[in-house]
Amino acid sequence: MRKSLIAGNWKMYKTPGESVEFVKSLIENTKDYDDRDVLICPPFTSLSAVSDVLLKNSSIKLGAQNVHFEDEGAFTGEVSTKMLADTGVEYVICGHSERRNVFGESNGMVNKKVKKTAEEGLKPILCIGEKLEERESGKTFDVISSQVKESLDGFERTELLVVAYEPVWAIGTGKTATPEQAEEVHFFIRNLLAQMFNKDVSDGIIMLYGGSVKPDNIDSIMKQKNIDGVLVGGASLKIDSFCRIIDYKI
Ligand code: PGA
Repeated sequence: MRKSLIAGNWKMYKTPGESVEFVKSLIENTKDYDDRDVLICPPFTSLSAVSDVLLKNSSIKLGAQNVHFEDEGAFTGEVSTKMLADTGVEYVICGHSERRNVFGESNGMVNKKVKKTAEEGLKPILCIGEKLEERESGKTFDVISSQVKESLDGFERTELLVVAYEPVWAIGTGKTATPEQAEEVHFFIRNLLAQMFNKDVSDGIIMLYGGSVKPDNIDSIMKQKNIDGVLVGGASLKIDSFCRIIDYKI
């Protein structure tokens, strides 16, 4: 049985002070669930302060939104896996579509990040997803297939892997893939992972859907067989909406 994962990606929102306030309120307003984990991915500058609050008070997990793939060196502005691990981070989002499309990350770079993250014993959340023009020209499965294969080339630590399917046209746009559209791609990815690794490995990998997840669509998304959780942007920034998403019902 795969445990669900409800993850909030705060992107470039919230100062350390605002992050701590939010997390304290989240702890007060959520219960512990046996069947689901909750994860917060704040900006780098908030990780340390949020980690202190979580360590003392909660089972909520901490994640980073990005990482560099070298151990250390002259890489101005970058952060290493060791730095993240030492700050209490457990998950790292790798290859988010904003990293790919705004900052030019290729599958090759994402591959290095995913591997380095797992080498440190952290859990990579590999993000993949097609653009609108790719969907409209019938290329969704080709795009997804090459993203998965190239981003996971030579990857072995499958027990740490989380995959997030986030159609680019659904991120921050208010347009959600229908639960059936999302499930269709998740099913495709699960089969692809079974071919690349094996069925047992594939059956154990947690797969998230992301893209305009909201309180009013979470229940129908979580009902899908191959969707084990969600990666939530905008709706994770407000306590009421994030708590309702965490408390999804199937
Ligand atoms: P959104 O973002 O929920 O605001 O669409 C999701 C994401 O980018 O992970």
